[in-house]
Amino acid sequence: MSAARSGEWLDPDLGLGLGLEDIKPGAFNMTIPTDRYTSPEYARREREAIWMRVWQIVGRVDELPKVGDWKRYQILNQSYVIVRGKDEKLRGFVNACRHRGNQLCDRETGNAKRGFLCQYHLWSYDLEGKLRGVLREDLAGQIDKTKNSLLEVPVDTFAGFIFLNPDADAAPLREYLGEDVCRLLEHYNIDQFTTVMDVQEAIDCNWKVVMDAFEEGYHINGIHPQLLAVLNINPKTARYQFFERHSVAVAPFEVQGAGPQKQVDGIMALPETFPGTAAVIPRFQELVAPYQGKDGEVEFPDGVTARRLLQEATRDTLTGMGLDVSGLTDDQMSDNQGWVLFPNYFMTVRAGECHVIMAVPHPDGDPNRCIWHVSSYMYLPAEHRDAFRAEPVVVDEPGSYKYFEALHQDYVQMPRQQKGLRNTRLDHMSLVREEVVIGHYHSVIDRYMANGATT
Ligand code: FES
Ligand SMILES: [Fe+2]
Repeated sequence: MSAARSGEWLDPDLGLGLGLEDIKPGAFNMTIPTDRYTSPEYARREREAIWMRVWQIVGRVDELPKVGDWKRYQILNQSYVIVRGKDEKLRGFVNACRHRGNQLCDRETGNAKRGFLCQYHLWSYDLEGKLRGVLREDLAGQIDKTKNSLLEVPVDTFAGFIFLNPDADAAPLREYLGEDVCRLLEHYNIDQFTTVMDVQEAIDCNWKVVMDAFEEGYHINGIHPQLLAVLNINPKTARYQFFERHSVAVAPFEVQGAGPQKQVDGIMALPETFPGTAAVIPRFQELVAPYQGKDGEVEFPDGVTARRLLQEATRDTLTGMGLDVSGLTDDQMSDNQGWVLFPNYFMTVRAGECHVIMAVPHPDGDPNRCIWHVSSYMYLPAEHRDAFRAEPVVVDEPGSYKYFEALHQDYVQMPRQQKGLRNTRLDHMSLVREEVVIGHYHSVIDRYMANGATT
């Protein structure tokens, strides 16, 4: 790809991204068997072929700022500890003592500045996982400490997220993500974003029902009708890119309504649906003012559009706060790119903010349940980050957390889909053309399930 800036692949005039018309029928699996959502046997195979082999996000780098800070990560019934070492490096270990397997960390987070101590017989480990002390060597006898380090698993970071791979022999994270993906995401500076929302809750659907729900825009008319005023998927302008495992799609932000005044009104109303846009409105008003006639009505000369002014206002506002958005294109100021990082990460991102949906199988292994994790991140000046940082919330009482409207609509829908999928006569789902991202996603799943470790 020869684009000067990584965002330029999306420019419809440059024609670098694929349009829906360019995607050949049959490129991806659009007929999805339903047993992958409901069958315990499929879930068991999926655990080995996918979950025990893929890089998965376990948190944000800024959750573990100090030496000795650790957090636990659980996938199905497997438990890991990620800890910041004396050398500042993050490492991951199987959460089990090498003596007789006692769980080392039984809380979610903590600090182990002086290392880990197993409560059972008091063996101790340093932050690099080395066995340091064995209680009562007179009773224990000769223990080869070099052979009893904690079992290490690969840990790495990207875009401010900590990734872990349960497979000790996994290929490096950058290879798994791919150079294109890393480059296309680089200029957003997501590694500097602050977590402003972080909620986890067990819900009654398979983890892939969650992923599917965020990989298409076809359901907006059905369950998010209020979004139609600001979000209209236009098959002529939507652009896609498919990578080996991951994908990105974008429906360029189009202001709804004919005529400059209607378009300006539409942008002024954006914060009601997308609160993150509120900061941009004052600058947008300044930019619109010169085009306002005496009657207050807006008229634009050729070449000026509400979309362009929104982009300019976004760039000015972020730059004015001292934030670096110079590597992003104008389109990236206004358009949310929808990224799928296999297997369980969906993100919408534009300049200054991103929203992430993740889902993992329920630890109890029931394919009809999962844990969904929704979070939002904002690019803020360093001096404001602490004030805006949100603490993680774990919702125990179903329905007790107030998600914002669109998310609530998805939250209610997903268990309903799972109920339908459980009917054994329904052996497959049929995807429509707009759901091509889901088609690609399930084609990757099929490959993993067929090949296991080789993908
Ligand atoms: S199991 Fe940890 S010291 Fe015995
Ligand atoms: Fe939705």
